[in-house]
Amino acid sequence: MSGKGGYDLVVVANRLPVDVTVGDDGDIAWKRSPGGLVTALEPVMQGADGAWVGWSGAPDIEAEPFDADDMRLVPVSLSADDVERYYEGFSNDTLWPLYHDVISPPTYHRTWWDAYRRVNQRFADAAAAQAAEGAIVWVHDYQLQLVPRMLRELRPDLRIGFFNHIPFPPLELFQQLPWRRQVVDGLLGADLIGFQRAGDASNFVRAVRRLTDYTTRGPIISTTGPDGKPGRHVRAAAFPISIDSRRFDELARTPEVQARAREIRSDLGDPEIMMLGVDRLDYTKGIRHRIKAYGELLQDGRLDVEHATLVQVASPSRENVDAYAELREHVEGLVGRINGEYAEIGHAAIHYLHHSYPPEEMAALYLAADVMLVTSLRDGMNLVAKEYVAARSDDRGALVLSEFTGAADELSSGALLVNPHDIDGMKDIIVAAAHLDGREQRKRMRRLRRKVLNDDVARWSQSFLGVLTAMPPRTDHV
Ligand code: G6P
Repeated sequence: MSGKGGYDLVVVANRLPVDVTVGDDGDIAWKRSPGGLVTALEPVMQGADGAWVGWSGAPDIEAEPFDADDMRLVPVSLSADDVERYYEGFSNDTLWPLYHDVISPPTYHRTWWDAYRRVNQRFADAAAAQAAEGAIVWVHDYQLQLVPRMLRELRPDLRIGFFNHIPFPPLELFQQLPWRRQVVDGLLGADLIGFQRAGDASNFVRAVRRLTDYTTRGPIISTTGPDGKPGRHVRAAAFPISIDSRRFDELARTPEVQARAREIRSDLGDPEIMMLGVDRLDYTKGIRHRIKAYGELLQDGRLDVEHATLVQVASPSRENVDAYAELREHVEGLVGRINGEYAEIGHAAIHYLHHSYPPEEMAALYLAADVMLVTSLRDGMNLVAKEYVAARSDDRGALVLSEFTGAADELSSGALLVNPHDIDGMKDIIVAAAHLDGREQRKRMRRLRRKVLNDDVARWSQSFLGVLTAMPPRTDHV
């Protein structure tokens, strides 16, 4: 394609909003995947003439672009080797741990970096081929940080936005990355760089100051062209992401979901207190810290299995990465030990579910839970916390929320904040949450709901795209 007759809005993300399945006969079928990003962007994509560039989630799928849900979907193919080096390696065993405060040690391999560059170029080429003259291209997340610059080199006419869904680390950690300058330059190809928290944006601006000669003034970074003349202005700012709050609220009000919530409680033996954890099985989520605290509360006799239970949903994730396989071993060992020690017939201490569930079942679990435990050691935002709040139109329940989530910046007035490293402190807060009286629950939940229902994901995408659209396109310097 010439690249000039294409789409006015192009989203570029590691994953497509559909999953692929390959039949025995080799036939390819696509199934919609209910990710947060697609619900966020669907309304803007359908209003505009929109295309989505991404990976199918499986290796070696060569497929032509196709239309679905009023969007053009453009699959980018990754070989098994790309999956190993770009996705599992550089994205999820280098950048992911580095950007999450090195909770797990990042691995630096030059071959992984080469693959990251190569695959980023492939995404940039695909986006360049889809975008209309002067189009808006919105690139997402840590897997694609080189795309903005690569794209600008191919298509200086475009307006380019980038949003980082995960934290951006402090300079002292970011500096470890052998390719830190290339990553900063990659991102600076964008006109607007969005982060979850103001702290992430200022970490980035500080990295720019230290690693380049560019000048910065508040959120604006002024680059210099190759000839030393003034270049472009790039804005780095916080745009905290949210969920489709109304849709969740409505789902949780349906009679089916409410009946299912009652059924869940009765299947659990009608405990007085049901606690709930819902996470991807990831070491950033503080699942071990949470379960350790819970086990100690049983040991201390401050909770007992006849009156309380913990349901932990841990959805499978990145299972080929060693740190994830090790985490699974640890968590499952810990759950087994605690159940072995404290469970009684008909009363499990912890119900551990290594699955993912559709939104209807999630809404029922949220409605059933008296206490929601979100105890991440580091988290860009944490949308589970917001889903719990959106589901609680009954103004009941208590949210225990880690200080180290992006959500804590927004939800501190109604949540019970914890430092998950402080096991004793977390135990006290969990007990306090379990005993919060109805009046206090209502007061807190109302504050939380005002925030979550108001600042929903449509507002997030409109505000990002609003700022990006208002920026004048500059084509004089790459
Ligand atoms: C986080 C990242 C996303 C990613 C998701 C699931 O939310 O910010 O970019 O898609 O985790 O991880 P996966 O590796 O399965 O895509």
